[in-house]
Amino acid sequence: MTQDELKKAVGWAALEYVPEDTIVGVGTGSTAAHFIDALATIKHKIEGAVSSSEASTEKLKGYGIPVFELNSVDSIEVYVDGADEITKHMHMIKGGGAALTREKIISAVAKTFVCVADGSKKVDVLGNFPLPVEVIPMARSYVARELVKLGGDPVWREGVITDNGNVILDVHNMKIVDPKQLEHDINMITGVVTNGLFAHRGADICLLGTEQGVVTMKP
Ligand code: A5P
Repeated sequence: MTQDELKKAVGWAALEYVPEDTIVGVGTGSTAAHFIDALATIKHKIEGAVSSSEASTEKLKGYGIPVFELNSVDSIEVYVDGADEITKHMHMIKGGGAALTREKIISAVAKTFVCVADGSKKVDVLGNFPLPVEVIPMARSYVARELVKLGGDPVWREGVITDNGNVILDVHNMKIVDPKQLEHDINMITGVVTNGLFAHRGADICLLGTEQGVVTMKP
């Protein structure tokens, strides 16, 4: 199977976790896009969606799925999103698509985070994938210097502006042995909006696409 076929398999498998008559949290990226395709087939059974990016919003609306502002929603039962890396502890690196801040906000609200990922995303230690950090533009150089002090090699993702009007620094060469501590430490740097470590609020379930089928991981 190709990587995209594995992503499609988990995107569709996530439908099983969507309760009827609720507003569904929807992530960003190629795996989440497959989930949106699947969600469209049951759109008459859900109230609508809350979306983590302009790109996902556009795709949802294209299917006629109502998209709600998060501020007008009291609770979200399930949030479905991809990951760039995930460990057996359900800690993740996210933000390859630059949507990490909105993803983190919706996952904070959601009761259950269902991660959908192809098998290549499962790792023993996070950090091979460069860690995205969303930064207020005027703080870019300062934050980069502080990230060097934490042991990383930040690279400005030139030409990318997030949906929130900020920039992204991708931090290379970090072997992340204590994801919760690093998530906290990076968020303490003034000018950082948030970082792509999802350790304090990791996934509750991960559907992993493998050659043997969809494997369900839980902490
Ligand atoms: C978007 O900002 C990311 O967090 C995505 O969830 C992540 O990059 C996974 O993307 P794919 O599903 O495209 O691999």
